[in-house]
Amino acid sequence: MAKQSGGNVDTVMQETRLFPPPQEFAARAKIGSVAAYEKMWREAAGDIESFWGQLAGELHWFRPFERVLDWQEPDAKWFVGGQTNASYNCLDAHLDSWRANKAALIWEGEPGDTRTFTYQQLHYEVCRFANVLKKLGVTQGDVVSIYMPLVPELTIAMLACARLGAVHSVIFGGFSAEAIADRNNDAGAKVQLTADYGWRRGAELQLKKNVDDALKKSPTVKHCVVLKRTGNPVHMESGRDHWWHDLIAEASSNCPAVPLDSEAPLFILYTSGSTGKPKGIKHTTAGYNLYVKKTFEWVFDYRDEDVFWCTADIGWVTGHSYVVYGPLSAGATVLMYEGAPNWPDEGRFWELIEKYRVNIFYTAPTAIRAFIKWGDHWVDKRDLSSLRLLGTVGEGINPEAWMWYHRKIGRERCPIVDTWWQTETGGIMMSPLPGAIATKPGSCTKPLPGIMPAIVDSAGQPVPQGQGGWLVMTKPWPGMLRGIWGDQERYREQYWTKVPHNYLAGDNARCDADGYYWIMGRIDDVLNVAGHRLSTIEIESALVSHPRVAEAAAVGRPDEIKGEAVAVFVTLKNGEPDEALRKELKAHVRKEIGALAQPDDIRFTGALPKTRSGKIMRRLLKDIASGKTTIGDTTTLEDYSVLAKLRSDEE
Ligand code: PRX
Repeated sequence: MAKQSGGNVDTVMQETRLFPPPQEFAARAKIGSVAAYEKMWREAAGDIESFWGQLAGELHWFRPFERVLDWQEPDAKWFVGGQTNASYNCLDAHLDSWRANKAALIWEGEPGDTRTFTYQQLHYEVCRFANVLKKLGVTQGDVVSIYMPLVPELTIAMLACARLGAVHSVIFGGFSAEAIADRNNDAGAKVQLTADYGWRRGAELQLKKNVDDALKKSPTVKHCVVLKRTGNPVHMESGRDHWWHDLIAEASSNCPAVPLDSEAPLFILYTSGSTGKPKGIKHTTAGYNLYVKKTFEWVFDYRDEDVFWCTADIGWVTGHSYVVYGPLSAGATVLMYEGAPNWPDEGRFWELIEKYRVNIFYTAPTAIRAFIKWGDHWVDKRDLSSLRLLGTVGEGINPEAWMWYHRKIGRERCPIVDTWWQTETGGIMMSPLPGAIATKPGSCTKPLPGIMPAIVDSAGQPVPQGQGGWLVMTKPWPGMLRGIWGDQERYREQYWTKVPHNYLAGDNARCDADGYYWIMGRIDDVLNVAGHRLSTIEIESALVSHPRVAEAAAVGRPDEIKGEAVAVFVTLKNGEPDEALRKELKAHVRKEIGALAQPDDIRFTGALPKTRSGKIMRRLLKDIASGKTTIGDTTTLEDYSVLAKLRSDEE
């Protein structure tokens, strides 16, 4: 029995460790003190329009904007009347400077093949491919669906679309034919881009085969362009399918960027919705472009000589914002790696860091927990001295995983930026500025300048300091989503009605006495034990702090007395579980956070069910823990066998 539909969440986690920015880092940082950050934040909060309006001067404007913001809740128009182009800002803007011959993209394929593109070369390739799209009839406003491996041509395709004002919809290469067709139909995609195959753990992903199946059900798609990646044979449908290399061979490299209205749609990115129907999150040109450029520069304290590696696939928003648009509009050098972190062995990432002398490394907590499980020896044999800054995104990071990242990868010299944001927010919203803000393991610390969060209860009232509640944004920001593709009502309903005049993020959070934010998990994931609303991440973090635990997921299952009982699923670093360990883990949680959160059930499992982007699917575990025989939507599940195993463990 839930006490209430939203609002307060009790906190049981006490994390007191504090890591100030290392002195030599702060000395060289662009924003190098708390005072500098606070001054900037206050100035922005005092007048967001003038703050963002001044920064917008960093983009190229074919026509200057007349107004910074036209806010008709929930519809925002940023940089009204202006014309710019994201492809221009990422490429042409650098060509009159020394950066023309700077590496924009350093790429390594899973089999070890490598390619490097300077800004000049990338510009050349993008122009040629934009002309290919034009030849296929793509014009401004058309949707191009992209289902490709993590190869340079994926970046090239996105920037080619942006150049023409076509809207890209990138679909992660792990999705099924059914998922591609759904997205193509929802978006009304006109052209499909894909590859024959992609490499994953030494095997070939059948990308073209999936596209063939999808296109049987995607009547709006008239052409399909196929990149040859592995070279094994694929079916080519005459009249519809074209080889990338054939089309590009004849394309001119002269393709000026089209001046686009600030609010021209730049891309759609589908994300899972609570109803199961994926939502096409819509982002537009100028505001998004400015937001990812500035957040990239602030959060990663980017310097021209850095090599920046964000390990996310471009199929997720992290890849859109911090592999493509953010770094390239800042003139950065980006490393991109096609394959799996454990191919040919579990040391691949560390080998890449050593080989390319990576300076900034941005990855996900799920990956960090896997590295811990794989063992320190993979890390120890590599030279990681080039690293100066580490980042995480996608989920809360358990404090013990944070400490491992800090000690083992950062060698206690590199600040860690734990960045909180969403597909909907376009870019990072809360994160330490690494030269300014002391970090606390597990906290995304403070809002970036121009971002004004609050924590409220279900009535929209601010909760007392230190209390958990709903995280909202009280003011619009340039990178915010402009809607759900084809469904503005759902956009309004989902994000703007539950807490009037505020953007509802859908996460619970609390803010401590120092003004630090702690994300407590999705609103729907809250446990209600004996009238106390507990957050999943706090219980999970307590378990992960036990030396034998690799990963943990906490969910509630109905309990007659307590309302909900705490059920946890645990994977171990090594060794076999036994009754003694089960008892020990219960005692461990009791000691770390109190009797209230002590798990009632502990189930050991070889792996946890995750989404394709690496988030633990607690919803499915909740069904299993409650003994339901049918479980909810599993289309975003990464590995179906995990579910089967979990269920057979039941018997
Ligand atoms: O619950 C939060 C979690 O991921 C959600 C957004 O997911 P998605 O749209 O897939 O974007 C992920 C990449 C930006 C959030 O609502 N999340 C993301 N980053 C963090 C996080 N939870 C805690 N700490 C984070 N740093």
